[in-house]
Amino acid sequence: MSQLDSHIVFTVIPAYGHIRAVCILVARLVKENRNLVATVFIPPNYLDSSFLEVEAELGQSATDEAIRKRIRILSTFSASDGNLMDLSKPTAESYTSYYEALVQEKPILCPVKGTPFEAVLAPTLVIADFFAGTQFEATRKLTGHRVPIVAAITAHASSIIRLFGPESHGGIGDLSKMVEAEAERTGKKPEEVGDEVLQATSGKVVKIAGIPDMYDYEYFPQVLPFSGAIPFMTAANKILPACDGVVMASSYAFENESLQSMKSWFADWNKELFAVGPLLPAGYGFAKQSARGADEVEAFMEKALKEYGEKSISFGTIFWSTRPEFIEEVLEALLEKKFPFVFAYASPFANLPEELLQRVKASGLGLISKWTPQQYILSHPATGWFLSHCGHNSIMESLGCGVPLICWPFQADQPAAAAYLTEYLNVAIELIEVRTGEKGLKPLLRNGRVPKGTREAVGIEIREVIDLVRGAKGDELRRNAESFKIKFAEVWEENGISRKEAQALLEKFRLVKH
Ligand SMILES: *[C@@H]1O[C@H](CO)[C@@H](O)[C@H](O)[C@H]1NC(C)=O
Repeated sequence: MSQLDSHIVFTVIPAYGHIRAVCILVARLVKENRNLVATVFIPPNYLDSSFLEVEAELGQSATDEAIRKRIRILSTFSASDGNLMDLSKPTAESYTSYYEALVQEKPILCPVKGTPFEAVLAPTLVIADFFAGTQFEATRKLTGHRVPIVAAITAHASSIIRLFGPESHGGIGDLSKMVEAEAERTGKKPEEVGDEVLQATSGKVVKIAGIPDMYDYEYFPQVLPFSGAIPFMTAANKILPACDGVVMASSYAFENESLQSMKSWFADWNKELFAVGPLLPAGYGFAKQSARGADEVEAFMEKALKEYGEKSISFGTIFWSTRPEFIEEVLEALLEKKFPFVFAYASPFANLPEELLQRVKASGLGLISKWTPQQYILSHPATGWFLSHCGHNSIMESLGCGVPLICWPFQADQPAAAAYLTEYLNVAIELIEVRTGEKGLKPLLRNGRVPKGTREAVGIEIREVIDLVRGAKGDELRRNAESFKIKFAEVWEENGISRKEAQALLEKFRLVKH
């Protein structure tokens, strides 16, 4: 490994969407730059899937073992299981000693797999998830500005502007300061008042470049069964002004205007933004993806393809509604209209009546599963539609396969993304009647619609949407979605815009020579 002269360290939070994108980026950078070695710290429960992500990018045929040797994926602690909240703390706290060992050019060991990694040159760049506040601080403390830190963002640009950007660009302003002020005023702890401050709305119109204008409450179309985003938000509030650059998993081919606005915000802060997305495995959208051992799903997809034909299935993965009868109503409508479906409900809050589950099973029309291989399903010829909460990765994965969407957004970047997909890109239909709570039931700015908040209204809407997607409107949305399949492939081709951005990132931090 004598020609190695650059070492990138990646640190993430325990969120699969963020991890997936990072794995593809690592594999791609290392594959194409022989001077790079990468060390990737992954929470223990995502190690195996990370290996698979990297393999999906490298491809089965990649014979060059030297490439794999330069991608060093390991955990910094062991744990058998846990969710985002449980695993965030050990992920953050165990980082420091590993980073220190790398700085001292010492060998390291994965405590989960027992894999030893030999000593290599000290890190020359750290790419840290923009929510990884503790890792950011630990890195700065140990290596100051000698080792630059790039913040990695996996989300829609418009929402990053809203949540963390300056007010001049449509941002809410400095959330951390607002939370501190409210804590002071009420004598409560910042964690106690955080969600309230974040979700405070006044009916003001929010204007962000590249997406439709929306009332501020439209960013909260659903009552959430959980809270606790505040520690991540305040971490991002600290990292973004202090980092040395930003790498975005989004693409100019997807949301140019919002990204241009984001770029200008960071230019004001003297930082460059590199939009390298979408970060999907090589050949995605054209090659079938692996079912990753989900035999039942695979059998169902093949059977549906034979029985119902191409583009016949709707695939759904949504958060869990606080009105579960809305979800039941959607499933009832799919059964009634004989619309085959695969429905994933990974949410720990999910539960469906046994009687309905039995009826779905007996119908042969639907498969309901706790876990589904999303990229496999989206890349399958039987899949026609994606009912999605519209997180950034899901949208990239759907459009990357040319699959149009039915949107059921909940929080974070999802509501603005859904408005963008439906109003500007014309690749999706948004369900409006599924909205819940006081904010969710207020009128929409873009069309004045007021959701009724009843199961009956959900039933009428979903049946209309099913008819619509099976008609001329559906064809139109599909044609538009399919144009992204080509665009997303092009951005990473030679001279493609995302490839150039990745190259610019490496050059900026002197990881490759000009
Ligand atoms: C994005 O917008 C800028 C500024 O309007 C323009 O110069 C550029 O060509 C656009 N890029 C894409 C990929 O549409």
